[in-house]
Amino acid sequence: MGLTLQILLVLPVLPFIFARKWNNTGKGTIAFEEAWTLPDLINFTDHKSPPPGTTVEQFEANLFDIHNQRLSQMDATGVDFMVLSCATPCIQAIPDPTTAEEMARTVNNALAASISNNTFRFGAFGTMAMHNPAVAAAELERTVKEFGFLGALLNDYQQTPNGTVLFYDQPEYDVFWEKVVELDVPVYLHPRSAVPELVALQFQQAIWLNGPSQGYAVTLSNHILGICTNGVFDRFPKVKLIVGHLGERIPSDLARIDEQLLKEIPNGLPMKRNITSYWQTNLFETTSGNFATPLLKFHLETIGLNRIMYSIDYPYINIQEGQTWIDELLPQAGILSQADLLKLKRETAIEVLGLNK
Ligand SMILES: *[C@@H]1O[C@H](CO)[C@@H](O)[C@H](O)[C@H]1NC(C)=O
Ligand SMILES: *[C@@H]1O[C@H](CO)[C@@H](O)[C@H](O)[C@H]1NC(C)=O
Ligand SMILES: *[C@@H]1O[C@H](CO)[C@@H](O)[C@H](O)[C@H]1NC(C)=O
Ligand SMILES: *[C@@H]1O[C@H](CO)[C@@H](O)[C@H](O)[C@H]1NC(C)=O
Ligand SMILES: *[C@@H]1O[C@H](CO)[C@@H](O)[C@H](O)[C@H]1NC(C)=O
Repeated sequence: MGLTLQILLVLPVLPFIFARKWNNTGKGTIAFEEAWTLPDLINFTDHKSPPPGTTVEQFEANLFDIHNQRLSQMDATGVDFMVLSCATPCIQAIPDPTTAEEMARTVNNALAASISNNTFRFGAFGTMAMHNPAVAAAELERTVKEFGFLGALLNDYQQTPNGTVLFYDQPEYDVFWEKVVELDVPVYLHPRSAVPELVALQFQQAIWLNGPSQGYAVTLSNHILGICTNGVFDRFPKVKLIVGHLGERIPSDLARIDEQLLKEIPNGLPMKRNITSYWQTNLFETTSGNFATPLLKFHLETIGLNRIMYSIDYPYINIQEGQTWIDELLPQAGILSQADLLKLKRETAIEVLGLNK
């Protein structure tokens, strides 16, 4: 490629480099499992299950929008800041590595450009093709250093051309986790729709379970527990991994998971500790799409407030639903002091996302 062409390709991106110094004077929420996508990616987007009262057409428009209906609802309901990321499954459903890597760069460039004029209200998690861990690490570095992105959001496993799927718990991915630690940014692990092979084997007798009600959490919790048990956090103790939907069911079942894992392999597993302990050092959860007050109460007892942050899951969930829960229902339930409520709504997120840096 000639130098002129390279400059032409790079130039439109350069003006969008931005910096944000968060002053934390607000009291509103920070939400960061919030989906957005490009029209070109609609066939790589779960967009057939809008929330009640929203048509598929409105839902698609909500996914593409940033500055209109999204921002006006944030203003109306008290969301101070949203971190946007590519709606699931996005790049993780593109089997061809070259196509996936190019599309990831296109998505990241477009998102950086779209939010560049309002970085006090919007931030971004980068999207990465995960076929080649070194390429993923380089794209993470580019988006963090050039665009001020706040981390990465990966939609569970990566599809490949030969029908296998890739999980990020193997030693090949150490180069990626090493970069995550070096850049000191969190990684959000988000669910995705199942590949057809998995649907045929696991869900054909109850196809309605293939999705957010069950399938999402089942496959993603396997991936999360794979990352724990394969020792990623032992090799990279500073990795911050965030999972949504109140922990993809894991914190609710820690006692049994730990007890049974101990028996699994007589000589021990690749991990050095137990799953409970990684929730004190590496794992965080958000409330996205799971505003269940009794469950939150249990998680406050088991993993503790410091590991739990608010998020919504817009536009799959209405902004108002999340805001009503946290602003009204949750204080009424009397399980958090006002100071603790602020931690849940924003203060832990400011630390974990590095908004105060
Ligand atoms: C803090 O940031 C907000 C934007 O989120 C801005 O309106 C406000 O003026 C800032 N306050 C200070 C003291 O810089
Ligand atoms: C999505 O898939 C449909 C059906 O195959 C096709 O008609 C449409 O052009 C695709 N849209 C994009 C943006 O690729
Ligand atoms: C940022 O740009 C978008 C698209 O042009 C526009 O709709 C929006 O109002 C702008 N926001 C600010 C704060 O300038
Ligand atoms: C399928 O492709 C992946 C890389 O994309 C490779 O690691 C794996 O060995 C391949 N598996 C088979 C059965 O060809
Ligand atoms: C998990 O490990 C911690 C120490 O890190 C220990 O206190 C706890 O008893 C262990 N739990 C189980 C169920 O093994």
